[in-house]
Amino acid sequence: MPDLDHRQLEMLDKMGIDIWRLRQRDDDAADDDATADPAATVAETDDRAAAPAADDDRAAAPTVAEPNAPNAPNAPNTPNTLDTLDKVAMEINQCRRCQLHATRIKAVPGVGSVQAQWMFIGEAPGQNEDQQGLPFVGRAGQLLDAMIAALGMTREQVFIANVIKCRPPANRDPVPEEIAECEPYLHRQLALVKPKVIVALGRVSAQALLKTSESLGHLRGKVHQYGSSNTPLVITYHPAYLLRSPSQKAKSWADLLLARSVVDSAS
Ligand code: URA
Repeated sequence: MPDLDHRQLEMLDKMGIDIWRLRQRDDDAADDDATADPAATVAETDDRAAAPAADDDRAAAPTVAEPNAPNAPNAPNTPNTLDTLDKVAMEINQCRRCQLHATRIKAVPGVGSVQAQWMFIGEAPGQNEDQQGLPFVGRAGQLLDAMIAALGMTREQVFIANVIKCRPPANRDPVPEEIAECEPYLHRQLALVKPKVIVALGRVSAQALLKTSESLGHLRGKVHQYGSSNTPLVITYHPAYLLRSPSQKAKSWADLLLARSVVDSAS
């Protein structure tokens, strides 16, 4: 394990990671992935499910001109040199491409720097995110912030988004049609930010990005490639899962170190 400065040790402590255990695990050739991960994958559920449903608390969908008809000039799969993150966000805020626009309070386009080297991609907004229009603002978001801080960065220095930009009712898993309709927005965000690494947070995000049904246990621990840009993609546990299963934080930290090695080798 690389040397950690005082602040990073403090952050790892906040994440609940036992440094001694991390060091021992690094030295331990017989890692327990094979046995622990499948169970963890089964146990991993969406943090959003932990949030109480607030389906009665809906604002009417905004009535706006439809910018998202398939042949419209601003159809979401048309990245070009004039595209900007603000433009993508504006279109997401007005999007009616799938049924989720009817039940959302706010769309959640994503936040962060256009110069970010890291892009963190969650699954979908939960209740808090739906209310605020910002990703990862609940308890899981606080842990994500701590993870980012442990890497020596702030939320403002990375880019945080979700596979789908509107909250599914009662925090159900997104369906393939919703993922497909939303994917062009993510592609545009990626084309603009050009991160050196993507970190997929949780099973649903990982499976949606890689278009696979493989378990998270099988997907993590290696560097995948995403999209036509072949952006390196590392999979880790969802912060909400880590809140419920703190013993998995050490593995998540190992995933983040893998992602950091990708960034470092690209620099
Ligand atoms: N869970 C997610 O996957 N995304 C969020 O933005 C919040 C919680």
